[in-house]
Amino acid sequence: MLEIERLVRKFGAVEALAGLDFSVEEGESMGLIGPNGSGKTTLFNVVTGVYPPTSGSLRLEGRDIGASKPDRIVNLGVARTFQNLRIFERLTVFENVWAAQHRRADVALRELVLAGRSAERARRQEVDGLLELTGLADRRDALAGGLPLPDQRRLELARALARRPRLLLLDEPAGGMTPAETEHMVRLIRDIAIPGRTCIVIEHKMEMIRNLCDRVCVLDFGRKIAEGPPEAVLRDDRVIEAYIGREAPADA
Ligand SMILES: Nc1ncnc2c1ncn2[C@@H]1O[C@H](COP(=O)(O)OP(=O)(O)OP(=O)(O)O)[C@@H](O)[C@H]1O
Ligand SMILES: [Mg+2]
Repeated sequence: MLEIERLVRKFGAVEALAGLDFSVEEGESMGLIGPNGSGKTTLFNVVTGVYPPTSGSLRLEGRDIGASKPDRIVNLGVARTFQNLRIFERLTVFENVWAAQHRRADVALRELVLAGRSAERARRQEVDGLLELTGLADRRDALAGGLPLPDQRRLELARALARRPRLLLLDEPAGGMTPAETEHMVRLIRDIAIPGRTCIVIEHKMEMIRNLCDRVCVLDFGRKIAEGPPEAVLRDDRVIEAYIGREAPADA
């Protein structure tokens, strides 16, 4: 699904990604962990075309996407959520998901062909269905900016799903949540985000990685230091040292 080779991304003197090799198979649920500043979010930013790579290759389903712009990558079926939420605070919950759905090519096309009420009704039903699934139906008409953080994170997930991605990138989807809220998010990801698609989840909460991921990749200083099934990788001395040297992994 996604194949990355020798990827480098520099910011001035900082090598956020320092020759990373990384790949995800279709249908796989991959965990991405590593200490603060190890390059996890940068990897998402490069994959989604926010930052071009300094060097190295990126292939999505065999296509070279190294020089692609964000809009093109969305159209190729990649959606993400953000560590520091990006929602429209002055729009309602419903409008936020509606706006995300609108970026989908098939939605734009259906509107041209079917123009009018039936296309719109189908779109509304789909948005309401997503709000139902993510537990936001009773907040439908609330302004997104006024929601508590866990609801805003669920809204980000609903927005990403509205694009019907084949590859979904989740950046600390339970960041800042209590254990109970985290558990709810784990259920959402397991039940509605992962089935039928390829997922990469960045998380510091190791319990989530254990619960959700088939495989986990560990970054340190922009390189991969370990990879494999969560149980084995989370016992690896280099991984424990990378975390404990600078911070202890937060357990959900
Ligand atoms: N736009 C940018 N400009 C300058 N430096 C950047 C930029 N984005 C990231 N960096 C630097 O690249 C390195 C990797 O950052 P990144 O955000 O990818 O880490 P991370 O693994 O997501 O960390 P965290 O767990 O704290 O979210 C850091 O040193 C960071 O300061
Ligand atoms: Mg990050």
